[in-house]
Amino acid sequence: MAKMLFHDQIIERESRVNIEDRAYQFGDGIYEVIGVYDGKPFMMDEHLDRLKRSANEIQLKLPYQMDDFRSNLEELVENNELYEGIIYLQVSRGVGPRWHEFPDPDVSPVTVAYTRAEERKTDLEEKGGVAVLTEDIRWLRCDIKTLNLLPNVLAKQKAVEHNAVEAILHRDGIVTEASASNVFMVKDGTLYTHPANNYILNGITRQKIIERCDALDMKVNEEPFTVDDMLAADEVFITATKSDIIPILQIDNHKIAAGVPGAMTLRILEEFRSLIRELTET
Ligand code: PDD
Repeated sequence: MAKMLFHDQIIERESRVNIEDRAYQFGDGIYEVIGVYDGKPFMMDEHLDRLKRSANEIQLKLPYQMDDFRSNLEELVENNELYEGIIYLQVSRGVGPRWHEFPDPDVSPVTVAYTRAEERKTDLEEKGGVAVLTEDIRWLRCDIKTLNLLPNVLAKQKAVEHNAVEAILHRDGIVTEASASNVFMVKDGTLYTHPANNYILNGITRQKIIERCDALDMKVNEEPFTVDDMLAADEVFITATKSDIIPILQIDNHKIAAGVPGAMTLRILEEFRSLIRELTET
């Protein structure tokens, strides 16, 4: 029987929601998704740092030391014998009578985490997929990984209904990111991606790719680009935990260049895979 983490206890997995949990009623909480490869969580510290940041931004005080939380998550992965997949974790502000303001007196945050086995989509990573464009109707703090994901849900549903892998979001003609991933484009040998400000989630995969590109002397400009720039790009790809890097070959009815995965995208994919290999071989 699969286990889950509830506060700091590993228990039998169950799906019971307190109706007055603020995550349930207001989406008042934060979350992370951490990839697991060969039984090892990938970039766990980076994810936990981002969780801490999200908590601060919504004035939620995490009731534990990160080291303890980290060990609990590692124990969960071990207990569930997870080899390939993800850890999903969320922290809600807590349980209290339904008033919009924070509960007074204060309540304890509710932390839950579980694992899900998931095969790697290596085929999609190599062959690429199509995307749709849709307006970015989210709030102005997309840098916080909050549980409020309704605009993302609607965008992804649009993608699925068009047999696309993702919905790329634009705000006033500027490409921000996608429903559950970051967006990069390549033009004349340079990579472009939206700067890490309040309009996007600063993806851990995104950060790692930028770091590796710097080390490889591949130029990355973190600057906004338009939908037209993207449609005229040489290459486009999206990045996220576990789906890693997916080349985008077509957006709505527009083919990107020749409509095949680009050389730089594949080079970065290879680099990313070697990072994963480094993790799993240590
Ligand atoms: N989503 N942008 C958004 C809006 C996201 O939801 C995600 C990840 C990313 C990529 O972040 P990272 O590289 O840290 O996974 C960017 C996760 C996977 C999800 O919600 O399931």
